[in-house]
Amino acid sequence: MCAAALLFVFMCLTAAARADHHQPCHSPNMTGFMSLTSFRGGVRALGDFTYDSMGRKLRFQSNDSLSISELVNKTLSLDLLMLFEEGIFYEIDSKNQSCEKKSLHSSLHPLDIPDDAKSHFPFNLGNPSIEGEGLKVSLWMGSVPEMKVSYSMCVTQGCLPFSTLYFSESDSLIVSIMNVENDIKDPDVLAVPSFCQGLPVEETPEGTVNSFINEFL
Ligand SMILES: *[C@@H]1O[C@H](CO)[C@@H](O)[C@H](O)[C@H]1NC(C)=O
Ligand SMILES: *[C@@H]1O[C@H](CO)[C@@H](O)[C@H](O)[C@H]1NC(C)=O
Ligand SMILES: *[C@@H]1O[C@H](CO)[C@@H](O)[C@H](O)[C@H]1NC(C)=O
Ligand SMILES: *[C@@H]1O[C@H](CO)[C@@H](O)[C@H](O)[C@H]1NC(C)=O
Repeated sequence: MCAAALLFVFMCLTAAARADHHQPCHSPNMTGFMSLTSFRGGVRALGDFTYDSMGRKLRFQSNDSLSISELVNKTLSLDLLMLFEEGIFYEIDSKNQSCEKKSLHSSLHPLDIPDDAKSHFPFNLGNPSIEGEGLKVSLWMGSVPEMKVSYSMCVTQGCLPFSTLYFSESDSLIVSIMNVENDIKDPDVLAVPSFCQGLPVEETPEGTVNSFINEFL
């Protein structure tokens, strides 16, 4: 529902192209639930995330048992630990105690509003005149030419992104963020597991851009 609103607003705003230039909006520490749906592949993953906004670390653990219907049986089984500061990420297989360490080519991800994103006038989702029925949000938009991606993020007044649309030539991705708490419930999930330590960085095939969203497209 939010995604449809986002797409509609995105189209309206692209036509109107009215940008306010605010201070950069930086999201807080967060723990919550994320769903990622691509236009071509359907629901790609559902799972828990933990985000350290200062340390710039993100863990996303998809939960296969949530693939409840025929529509969502092509979900990816992914456990990612992204260290944006170091430019490194790990694909973790906890069951197997195995791990792949790769270099990260872009720090674009759905919990962070890029510094060069442009903010558009705030609007209300739902009915703001009834307590608890409306949410005042603003839209932050921009593009990342190296990734051939443009994005549109629906963000609360407290800089909490909750619905983001990524457009690329090949596919588009909608990311929804739910049940957010503004702290880190389990700091251990942001630590590199012992079985991942000391691994060499795997070679990236020519032309591949490693990023959070490219894991799902
Ligand atoms: C966010 O989490 C990190 C890691 O636990 C902590 O060092 C930092 O102080 C937290 N930031 C806020 C604003 O709570
Ligand atoms: C996956 O989701 C199910 C159903 O909500 C839950 O019982 C289970 O604990 C989750 N598993 C993980 C690893 O989070
Ligand atoms: C989901 O899996 C079932 C059984 O394996 C299959 O018949 C169905 O086509 C799949 N659906 C999608 C959307 O791939
Ligand atoms: C265990 O990890 C290896 C790669 O190191 C992988 O090929 C294999 O499929 C994994 N097994 C399971 C059960 O996930």
